[in-house]
Amino acid sequence: MSTEQTDMSTEQTATANASANGGGTAAETLSVTDNRTGKTYELPVTDGTLRAMDLRQIKTGEDDFGLMAYDPAYMNTASCRSAITYVDGEAGILQHRGYSIEQLCEHSSYLEVAYLLINGALPTQDQLDKWVYEITIHTFVHENVKDFMQGFRYDANPMGMLVASVGALSTFYPDANKINDEQIRAIQIIRLLAKMPTLAAFAFRHNMGQPYVYPDNDLAYPGNFLGMMYKMTELKYKPDPRLERALDVLFILHADHEQNASTSAVRSVGSTRVDPYSAVAAGVAALYGPLHGGANEQALRMLRRIESPRNIPDFLEGVKAGRERLMGFGHRVYKNYDPRARIIKKHLDAVFEVRGTSPLLDIATELEKQALDDEYFTQRKLFPNVDFYSGLIYEALGLPVAMFPVMFAIGRTSGWIAQWLEMVQDPEQKIARPRQIYTGERDREYVPIADRQSTSVAP
Ligand code: ACO
Repeated sequence: MSTEQTDMSTEQTATANASANGGGTAAETLSVTDNRTGKTYELPVTDGTLRAMDLRQIKTGEDDFGLMAYDPAYMNTASCRSAITYVDGEAGILQHRGYSIEQLCEHSSYLEVAYLLINGALPTQDQLDKWVYEITIHTFVHENVKDFMQGFRYDANPMGMLVASVGALSTFYPDANKINDEQIRAIQIIRLLAKMPTLAAFAFRHNMGQPYVYPDNDLAYPGNFLGMMYKMTELKYKPDPRLERALDVLFILHADHEQNASTSAVRSVGSTRVDPYSAVAAGVAALYGPLHGGANEQALRMLRRIESPRNIPDFLEGVKAGRERLMGFGHRVYKNYDPRARIIKKHLDAVFEVRGTSPLLDIATELEKQALDDEYFTQRKLFPNVDFYSGLIYEALGLPVAMFPVMFAIGRTSGWIAQWLEMVQDPEQKIARPRQIYTGERDREYVPIADRQSTSVAP
């Protein structure tokens, strides 16, 4: 517990006795002197963090609410303890439950990684077979879900359709709100993983004006998804194994990325103890935003605009002059090559072998080379991120750009579920309810409508 000491010098500044990079013991402390009162406090430092609630004891008097931390956009606030995903942005490391993303992409299927994220350990063959079987037999959605989706406008954005239809699943499984029941939770997890590709493919077919295709239980997870997207008159859809593998790897690469915006939305909404369909719908809604799920679309549009490798020097001059942004470069966390971009690059060739090469690939490769040779980018530690190349694969698969974030959402569903599950079982978690610094008026005298002056009020 924190202890309060008095009569210390007001000139004393906060001194961290803890090691800078955390990982310490509870004996490590931070001494803080409140220059308003002259009091000094010793606050425990654990795992390189302070507990924000320990600040509350720092008061100017009895009526003072106590000190708060102000952190818009949560730039420096840990909202949970998590054992799911480790990211070291400086070193370019991404690990799930301790396994490197490179090893998982090399050896695992997406469903195996989903099992790992959700259950904490790699499955045995029996466990994996049962898991895959359960997911496979739950891919169908109720016919009313299909009817509901058919009610959307012909040109409805597929991501908007996905937000609505995932949320709507809660009305088909009303007992999903019994989130403290382990068995009930388990079946919703299976359903979410199983039905997400079905909803995504239905949204795509709706957009294309094509009839929806039902799942095929003979196909693996990525192949079934390709079938629901592209099957036409053939009796049996046979996915190309190279495309299937590339898609599976893309799902793995997007499976989880610790406390990003959409995962934080899932945790925040889930903290109200709502059912997991509603919590995941919040994640899809967050991913819909161009700053999160939409960067790969911008990267593709940028490559199209550049048109030819010979325009790259001019384009880069525009970036350096601040007229342009190099989309698919830079990351809030990675200050090194995003390991996911390196893996995607390896799968590009296989996809282009099946679909024929894209002139945009030459532009992307040359653009990366010239940017990485340029001090502007190296000094700022700007490297390709996962979005630089993923749009090229999606385009080669014949997907319109509006489907790109939908593809992201399918993969991220496993991460959202794992983080939701960890959150609902964490005894430290409560309803997420941030504080504010109130900046508005107080104690105004009510003015009758006839006496009011017109003011311009922002909507
Ligand atoms: N092109 C050109 N300059 C850039 C880029 C870029 N893509 N990214 C950052 N910079 C510059 C900034 O202008 C800034 O320069 P300055 O120091 O001269 O002012 C410096 O690099 C630092 O950049 P910040 O904007 O402070 O970095 P931040 O961490 O806030 O932004 C972000 C990260 C939003 C990803 C940014 O790099 C960006 O806009 N990239 C392009 C969009 C993109 O690819 N987003 C996908 C991210 S991955 C994902 O969401 C799955």
